[in-house]
Parts: sequence; C-alpha cells; structure tokens
Amino acid sequence: MLSRLLYGAGTAYPVRHTPFASLKDWSFRCRWICVVVIGMVAPMVNAMEPPIPQSALKLGSEFAKPEIRAMQADEFANPGMLWVTRGERLWSEPAAGGKSCAGCHADAAVSMKGVATRYPRLDTGAARVVNLSGRINLCRERNQAAQPLEQESQDLLALTAYVTYQSRGMPMNVTIDGHNAGDFERGRERFYRRMGQMNLACAHCHDQNWGRTLLNDTISQGHGTGWPGYRLEWQTFGSLQRRLRACYSGLRAEMPPYDARELVELELFLAWRANGLPIESPGVRR
Ligand code: HEC
Ligand code: HEC
Repeated sequence: MLSRLLYGAGTAYPVRHTPFASLKDWSFRCRWICVVVIGMVAPMVNAMEPPIPQSALKLGSEFAKPEIRAMQADEFANPGMLWVTRGERLWSEPAAGGKSCAGCHADAAVSMKGVATRYPRLDTGAARVVNLSGRINLCRERNQAAQPLEQESQDLLALTAYVTYQSRGMPMNVTIDGHNAGDFERGRERFYRRMGQMNLACAHCHDQNWGRTLLNDTISQGHGTGWPGYRLEWQTFGSLQRRLRACYSGLRAEMPPYDARELVELELFLAWRANGLPIESPGVRR
C-alpha cells in the first residue's frame, strides 16, 4: 500500500513534467500518508454509533483561515455572491417554453425561505430522493416545459445558490422516515466504508480527525452547509457534489458521476448529520 503511494503505481493522476513535479507529488503524498497513518491508529467507528452530537457541531468556516472566514462573511467580498446575483436574475427570466420561476413562486425570499434546510428530499412524482439542484431541474421539465440544466452548469449553480441563499442562517432540518430510509442507510453505509487506494472512509477524517491539521488544511467535520460555494483552489463556484468528488479523488477512489445515486444518498446522510447547523452557503473555502 505504502509503496504504491510512493511510486504511484496505477494512479489516475496526470504525469507532470515541470521541474517541481516530483516535489509537489511528494508533499501531496506526505499529506495523505499522514492521514493513512492516523487512519490506521484510530479505531474504526461502529457505523451505528450516533454522529457528532449537536452541541459539538461546527460550521465548515470555523476551520478555515481567518482571511477566508472574513471573505465569506462580507457579502461584497464573497465571490459566491456573484452566483447568487446571477440566480436572482434567472429567477425572473421566462424559460423558452413557459413561465419564469417568479411567475409561479413569486418572491423567493418568501416562497423559498427554509426550503434548502429540507433537502435532499423525496420527490413523489419522480419517486426518488433529489437534491435541491435536482428539484430545480424537475421544475424546469414539469413546469416550464424546458430542458433540465446541465449538472454543474453556471445557470444551475446560480439558481441553486439563489434558492439556498433564502435559507442562509437557518438550521438544517431533514427528516428521515419510511420515504427516504433506504437512501439514508446507503448514504450512511458509504460514509463509514473504506474506499480507494487510501483505504479510508469519510468518517476517518470527518468524524474522528476533525480539527487536525494536514499541511495547509484543517480537517472540518465535513458538513455540506457551506455549499454550493466558492473554492479558491478551483477559482470558481461549485456544488457540494463537486466538493465530495474532490474527496473521492484524494482517496484515489473512483469518482461517481454528477447526480449519481451514491452522491445524492451521501448528501442526504450529510444533511441529517448536520441537522441543527445553520446554512452558510455561499461558503468560501481554500
Ligand atoms: C483523508 C481525509 C479525508 C477523507 C477520508 C475525506 N475527506 Fe472530505 N475533506 C478533507 C479535507 C482535507 C477537506 C478540506 C478541509 C475541510 O473543509 O474539511 C475536506 C472537505 C470536505 C467537505 C467540505 C466541508 C466544508 O465545510 O467545506 C465535505 C462535505 C467532505 N469533505 C465530505 C467528505 C465525504 C462525504 C467523504 C467520504 C466520501 C470525505 N469527505 C472523505 C479530507 C477528507
Ligand atoms: C408553472 C409553475 C412553476 C414554475 C414556472 C416553476 N415552479 Fe417550482 N414548483 C411549482 C410547483 C407546483 C411546486 C410543488 C409541486 C411539485 O411540482 O412537485 C414547485 C416546487 C419547487 C421547489 C421545491 C419547493 C419545496 O418546498 O420543496 C423548488 C426548489 C422550486 N419549485 C424551484 C423552482 C425554480 C428555481 C424555478 C425556475 C427555474 C421553478 N421552480 C419554476 C411550480 C412552478
């Protein structure tokens, strides 16, 4: 396992030819090796144990550097607000085949307030659990006679950011019941299952080692409440699924495609695990 890490056999990473490539690779590997060691030392939690108790829940931004926290808190400095503003504009634009969102839902500040705290959620018509972006796309298809927006497209991110923004500061509030229990259990199981060449589970980092520093990153509790958000490393805005895929990639696990059931189920588990924690999207992260 370790020699694989060191020599990179079978990795999916592109070979870089810059003079600093090997140094960069080395520091990257060191970082993950640290975690592998932590992962081996810490006992694996029982998947049935309750997650982080409510009194110990912490926002993702609490683990960010002060300048990044300040950027998130200041609406004029927060780059994510550009997507919120774009979403606000799209809200009132009529779709080719029909009404605008505003045509049915009127003032988003009223009609969409608190909606994001309840997602992912079962859509009875589609008979599946959808995240907020998925729900917006269902409205486009059903109610606007329009094509669904492409996953991770600027317009879908913007509308999702705008709808989520109407719940900023409100606590997460998803309910697990007979309608979504299956999805929830699969999400939970995934969270505690080891994966990828690193052979680590989400829980190794985000349940057991939050607050620890790995070179430049402080591991947070892994909540989705800052997303969609702006990531400096991407120099752009992205969904929670994009952030989750980055963790898959770090573990050298196969990345599920956008909107895969596996990702929506994980999102549902994360949302429940964060119940009570206020939404801080648009978050800003390193
Ligand atoms: C090897 C450690 C590690 C593992 C395992 C890992 N992550 Fe992460 N994750 C990180 C780091 C580092 C970050 C960036 C710093 C932070 O926000 O925690 C991060 C960020 C996140 C975030 C964003 C938190 C925020 O507030 O912006 C979420 C959500 C997340 N991870 C979920 C997951 C899930 C779900 C899995 C399992 C599929 C997983 N992670 C596996 C290390 C890990
Ligand atoms: C023709 C009317 C109509 C239009 C246009 C419309 N919607 Fe909807 N929307 C509805 C109805 C009705 C529901 C609830 C019933 C259903 O369809 O499941 C709904 C539900 C929703 C929900 C879920 C609310 C909740 O409480 O869970 C969201 C989010 C949403 N719409 C967003 C949008 C967005 C964003 C747009 C524009 C891209 C849009 N809608 C356009 C009629 C519309």
